[in-house]
Formats: sequence, structure tokens, C-alpha cells
Amino acid sequence: MFRYALRATFLLFIAVAVSAADQEIDSSVRRVEEAIHLKPDVDNGRNVYRICAVCHMPEGWGTQDGYYPQLAGQHASVIIKQLADTLARNRDAPTMLPFAALKDLSQQDIADVAAYLALQPMVPDNGVGPGRYLEHGRRLYEANCLDCHGKNGEGDEHKHVPLIQGQHYNYLVRQFEWIRDGKRRNADKEMVAQIKRFTERDISAVMDYTSRLKPSAERVAKPDWRNPDFRNYYRPHSPAEWRLQDMRSR
Ligand code: HEC
Ligand code: HEC
Repeated sequence: MFRYALRATFLLFIAVAVSAADQEIDSSVRRVEEAIHLKPDVDNGRNVYRICAVCHMPEGWGTQDGYYPQLAGQHASVIIKQLADTLARNRDAPTMLPFAALKDLSQQDIADVAAYLALQPMVPDNGVGPGRYLEHGRRLYEANCLDCHGKNGEGDEHKHVPLIQGQHYNYLVRQFEWIRDGKRRNADKEMVAQIKRFTERDISAVMDYTSRLKPSAERVAKPDWRNPDFRNYYRPHSPAEWRLQDMRSR
């Protein structure tokens, strides 16, 4: 008898936990819908971006080692959705979440910073993979990814499909594995189903290929371009130093 009661309590606990998670996903979906329909103010976006630049770099280029993703050139709708998912804890962004200033952002701030980032020129030398199985990567990409992410990895602003061209290889691999393993709890269900059977070699090949997809030339910055909005910004020299600065800034 006691065992049954225990089991019933346990099942009830699971049901409540699952429905709480669903509610969080609902609330992040609502936030996205609201922010996407606001008229963005790019000047305010530039101000908001000050608090992001410490990690994502003044140019929004992230780091070549893929610890920080490139945000420059990403669709505004995608940036809004990823921020909403992070705040609703559907994404585990271990360093970003404890950053108190994020929780104070209004819907308008989120829309504004997303619009600012979407307009920034992209990194000219993103991190790429080992280059060994590019032909295999191309075949996998065209059969499994092209329909949603586009021929050149350009994504889709209206359907919130991320632009993945020119993104750092290590970041792509990490996100792909997290989506496959359900660690991004508000990921695209169709994508999750599609990629279940990918081996480690497949993942490396397809992401290597993706990291080498080039944005159109006018969207890419010149190699020595520095964001004039952050003229006097101190730039660390290595990813390790960068992370140290990130830890201190918390
Ligand atoms: C303390 C460091 C830190 C700060 C500050 C920070 N981020 Fe991040 N951010 C990260 C890290 C690390 C990741 C990658 C998380 C992962 O691997 O899932 C990330 C991921 C993201 C992503 C997901 C990108 C994608 O392609 O899915 C977006 C969007 C983002 N950050 C936007 C912002 C914005 C906008 C701000 C400022 C309002 C900001 N971040 C501030 C560290 C930071
Ligand atoms: C059915 C459509 C669909 C297919 C097929 C698909 N994706 Fe996606 N993908 C998405 C959507 C939508 C997202 C955004 C999910 C989210 O918001 O968390 C995404 C997210 C991603 C991300 C995370 C990007 C970021 O910046 O956070 C990567 C990497 C990715 N997809 C790679 C791939 C690759 C490689 C393939 C093929 C093997 C693929 N996807 C197939 C729709 C798809």
C-alpha cells in the first residue's frame, strides 16, 4: 500500500514538474512574440549592447574557439528567441545566465539589441573545423539541413531559423549536440528528430562544412575593422584572458 502511495506521489511530482516546464516554454514563446512586434530603436540597442560586449566582443564576433558565439549578422528574431529561452531557462548558458543585468532587460531592450546586432558586419575569420570530411559534410548538409537553414546557411528571419553560415565551428558542434540531446528544451522538434542518428564523424563533417559557408561579401567586415561604437574598449589578447574578464565581470 505504502509503495503505491509513494509511486503515485512520484508520478504526481513528475506531472507537476513537466507542466511547470511547459508553462516556462509558453511564457518564453509569449515574450518572443511580443518583442518581435515592437518597433526597434537601434540607438538604444547600441547602449544595451554595452553589457553584452564584455563577453561577445565589441564587434559581436564571439571567439574563434567557439566559447562565445558570433551574434553579428544574426536574424533579430533568432536573437530575441535565444535570449527569451535563456531567461526562461530553456537553454543552459552557464556564464550568461548569472549575469544580473540580463534579467533587467525590458522587451523593448531585447528587441533593440537584437536589431543592433543584426546590422553589424560579420567576422572575417571565424573558427572552422579540421577540413577532413568536407565532401561528406556537404552531402549531409544538402540532404538534412538545407530545407530549413537554406543553401548557404542563411537561415530564415520569419521562421526564427538561425543563420549558421560563418559561425565558429566549436560553437556549432556544441549547440548541435545539445539540441540532439534535448539540452535546448525549446529547440525545433523536427530538427531534433532529423538528427538523432548522426554519428560523431557526421557531426564534425557537417559542422565543418557549415562553418565554411560564406556570408555574402558585403556582410563581412574587413579584417582590421573595429566597431567605432566601442572605440576605447580594452580587448584581451587570448580566449583565456577573455574568460577571466568574463568571470570578474559577474
Ligand atoms: C558573461 C558573459 C555573457 C554576457 C554578459 C552575455 N552573454 Fe550571450 N552568451 C554567452 C555564452 C557563453 C553563450 C553561449 C551559450 C551556449 O553555449 O549555449 C551566449 C549565447 C548567446 C546567444 C545565443 C546565440 C545563438 O546563436 O544561439 C545570444 C542570442 C546571446 N548570447 C545574446 C546576448 C546579449 C544580447 C547579451 C547582452 C544583453 C549577452 N548575450 C550577454 C555569454 C554572455
Ligand atoms: C525542420 C527544420 C530544421 C532542420 C531540418 C534543421 N534545423 Fe537546425 N535549427 C532549426 C531551428 C528552428 C533552430 C532554432 C532552434 C531554437 O530556437 O532553439 C535550429 C538551430 C540550429 C543550430 C543552433 C544555432 C544557434 O545559433 O543557436 C544549429 C547549429 C543547427 N540548427 C544546425 C543544423 C544542421 C547542421 C542541420 C542538418 C543536419 C539542421 N540544423 C537541420 C531548424 C532546423
